[in-house]
This record gives sequence, structure tokens and C-alpha cells, in this order.
Amino acid sequence: MTAVPVTKDVAPQTDDLVVLASVNKHFGALHVLQDIDLTIKRGEVVVVIGPSGSGKSTLCRTINRLETIDSGSISIDGKPLPQEGRELARLRADVGMVFQSFNLFAHKTVLENVMLGQIKVRRKDKKAAETRARELLDRVGVGTQAAKYPAQLSGGQQQRVAIARALAMDPKVMLFDEPTSALDPEMINEVLEVMQQLARDGMTMVVVTHEMGFARSAANRVVFMADGRIIEEAQPDQFFNNPRSDRAKDFLSKILHH
Ligand SMILES: Nc1ncnc2c1ncn2[C@@H]1O[C@H](COP(=O)(O)OP(=O)(O)O)[C@@H](O)[C@H]1O
Ligand SMILES: [Mg+2]
Repeated sequence: MTAVPVTKDVAPQTDDLVVLASVNKHFGALHVLQDIDLTIKRGEVVVVIGPSGSGKSTLCRTINRLETIDSGSISIDGKPLPQEGRELARLRADVGMVFQSFNLFAHKTVLENVMLGQIKVRRKDKKAAETRARELLDRVGVGTQAAKYPAQLSGGQQQRVAIARALAMDPKVMLFDEPTSALDPEMINEVLEVMQQLARDGMTMVVVTHEMGFARSAANRVVFMADGRIIEEAQPDQFFNNPRSDRAKDFLSKILHH
């Protein structure tokens, strides 16, 4: 066994996993992200809610650099997100993303979908990738579907495969952008349960969702956005029982009354 050298003069690993500082972004004249400061701690589950068009998806997309920012900075585990190149690809692989639409490769089996990134990006051999893929498919409850193609699965099953595929990259943080919005109602819970388990297992998660039950039970913190700004941040109980801002009160009265 090789001894691990103790390096005392290296800065201690910080608890801050994702740090956005003074982030601004425009789409033409639209100021879609306005002075966003947001720090997500290791193991923290942050639920982002807010009206449609408030910038929630754009926020997620900047965190793994699917969108550029105009000013400010974003760092993942202490490293600033580079503009491009191999270093960007590596950092991006640390951020798992699950979208509303499942985005699985239609012409690949479920198993292949979960193996592919491990081989291409993480450079694992086929055997190791398959072992890990099967383990993750079991974990999200679709192990028996491994040989099927995505179209042969229900929406809830496909979204669980998408979660397994993201997890297969061993990400440091998982982003979920309305992962249950495209699902039939009876399939929402099976996906939320997988996410709940992930949260209990200590995964760092940013979740954009309208599922307030999930927010209440899984979130450490709720971030409320409107018009490109973070208007309010609070623990779920405080946010839902006692929102401070008028925008949040108004939003909650609309979504909780139907
Ligand atoms: N690629 C884009 N080009 C131009 N405008 C965009 C683009 N993506 C999003 N927007 C606009 O930015 C605003 C925020 O969008 P989005 O981040 O998707 O909000 P949310 O996810 O909260 O509904 C919306 O007004 C939307 O129309
Ligand atoms: Mg959105």
C-alpha cells in the first residue's frame, strides 16, 4: 500500500461546492440573471422555485456551462469554470444534469445509455462501465429493463434511467431542471423517491421543481427567483409558512391553491 502524504500547507478542502458570485447574463436586451450570488454546500439540497421565465433553467445551464455568463464567476469545488477546452469538459463532467425531457439516446439500449459516458468521458473499460451501470440501474429500480430501448419504457422509467446515466459519471453535484414536469401524474412519485434517496445518501443537489412536497421534505434550503433575481432564500418550513416577500407570497398563493 502506498502511503498518502499529508500536505498541511495546501488550502483545506472547502465545504462550498458550487459558488456563483455576482453572476449576470443577458439574452439580447433581456437581463435574465441579475447579480446572482449563490453558494451550495457539499451535501446540500437546494430547491429553486419561481414563476415561469424567472431564469431558473438559465441558472442551471450556466452552472455546467451550457450557457456562458456576461460577468461574475462560477466555481465548482474551488475551481473556476473555464471558458472552453479540455478542462471545461472535465469540470462539466463533475456536474450531472437531468432535464424535463429525458434526452436518452433512442438508438442505444438502456444499459448502453448508462455505459457510454463512463467509457467516453471517464475512460473506464467496458466491463467496469457495465458493472457500474447495472448497479445504478438497480438502484433506481429499472435493472430489469437494461436490454430495452428507451421508447419501450414508461416516462417515469426513462427519467430514472436518465438519473442513473448522470450518476454514472460520479458527479460532485446533480442539477435537476423540472425532472417530473413532463411525466404523467402516476409516475411522478417514483422519480421523486429516487431523488429523495439520493438526497438522503448525501448527494449535493440543485432541483428546480414545482413539487412542493419534495421541497418541504428534501430541501435544506429553498431559493425563490423572480425576474432573474434571487428574491428570497430560506429553510423550507420558514419559506412555505412564512414567506417574507410579496412576490413569494403571491407565487405561493397561486401554486398552492390548485
Ligand atoms: N436561448 C435563449 N434565447 C433568448 N431568450 C431566452 C433563451 N433561453 C431563455 N430565454 C428567456 O430567458 C427568460 C428566462 O428563461 P428560463 O431560464 O427558461 O426561465 P424558467 O426556467 O424560470 O422558466 C425567459 O424570458 C426566456 O424566454
Ligand atoms: Mg425552466
